[in-house]
Amino acid sequence: MATPANSVERKQQRQIPVCTPLLDGRERAYVDDCIDTNWVSSMGDYIPRFEGAFAKICQAPYAVACSSGTAAIHLALETLDIGPGDEVIIPSFTLIVSANMVCLTGATPVLVDVDPDTWCIDPALIEARITPRTKAIMGVHMYGHPCDMEPILAVARRHKLFVVEDAAQAHGAKYRGQAVGAIGDVGAFSFYANKIITTGEGGMLVTRHQAIAERAALLRNQAFEEERFLHHHVGFNYRMTNIQAALGVAQCERLEEKIRRKRQIAAIYDELLVDEDDLQRPAAAAGCEPVYWMYGLVLRDGFGRSKREVRETLADRGIETRSFFIPMHRQPVFQGQHRRWPDLRGNFPVSEFLGEKGFYLPSGLDLTRDDQERIVEQLLLCKR
Ligand SMILES: Cc1ncc(COP(=O)(O)O)c(C=O)c1O
Repeated sequence: MATPANSVERKQQRQIPVCTPLLDGRERAYVDDCIDTNWVSSMGDYIPRFEGAFAKICQAPYAVACSSGTAAIHLALETLDIGPGDEVIIPSFTLIVSANMVCLTGATPVLVDVDPDTWCIDPALIEARITPRTKAIMGVHMYGHPCDMEPILAVARRHKLFVVEDAAQAHGAKYRGQAVGAIGDVGAFSFYANKIITTGEGGMLVTRHQAIAERAALLRNQAFEEERFLHHHVGFNYRMTNIQAALGVAQCERLEEKIRRKRQIAAIYDELLVDEDDLQRPAAAAGCEPVYWMYGLVLRDGFGRSKREVRETLADRGIETRSFFIPMHRQPVFQGQHRRWPDLRGNFPVSEFLGEKGFYLPSGLDLTRDDQERIVEQLLLCKR
């Protein structure tokens, strides 16, 4: 039998994951319904229900469910007819999906550095990277913090460019009162298991434009048309299943609650770290209502320890963290040695700095205040 001392020790040792999905609503009932009614594939009521619920969250008239956030980004670019010879501006600090999907269309990603405070694409640096081949600007709402959309839209208007929002990490975040995703021409969300709402795997394209939504729905389903097996376009199997959508409907019902919780977790970290000048914390930019998907930190020199040392020490103490992205200009695949993929090397100091010094703390919806106090205590013990 465990003695009290042992249980205290075990409690101290509880592994704290960086994130866990929370399926505590009507998920099981809805999935059971799919099984009971035999609607388990990509037809069934939950798909339009999920699309409707998510469109509402995004204050957008159209939402098209698909198999992943990656698929949603690819569909977004395809609906804008982006292809060989085109350029798409993306942030250098992002998940490689942004660059990969541009490459997959045959277009070339063009990198722009990010803002040191918001970690999102720096609008002031975009115009210098525009060429006659530029077709779109893709902003990534990093870690749940909206990009500064107004100057991005202004530069896009001046040069007649499309604006794509990668909102994979930012469900429900708002920019000047408007939900992210459909502020630009087309937006993409991910429902991977670590996202604020999840369908296991899954994605959603959102837009204000009927033509974009119709084309996305067509391309998601092999470009099948009325006359079966006659095709005017190259399409894909990017369909979402009814079972995934059933999870999505249940998750949408609790989105507000989940966002509240994410903000509360961020507020507790902010409170516990308020005196730590050697750590840069996430900043809510003016006019933005971020959703704090993950709580990122950037080590300043005064902290006296490298990111690797801090993360390894925390891991030894049962606390999982995740490194920030390695920027695109540092990716071996984009160093000019591949026949098919572009050379993206360049000078992007903020992305470089964030990639070197940034990581995020556990941010799962099941974190307790005790967990957060333990995480911060152990983090500060790393300090030299
Ligand atoms: C910024 C960003 N874009 C795109 C994706 C891709 O989403 P998925 O994993 O659903 O394909 C992710 C996933 O984590 C992401 O963080």
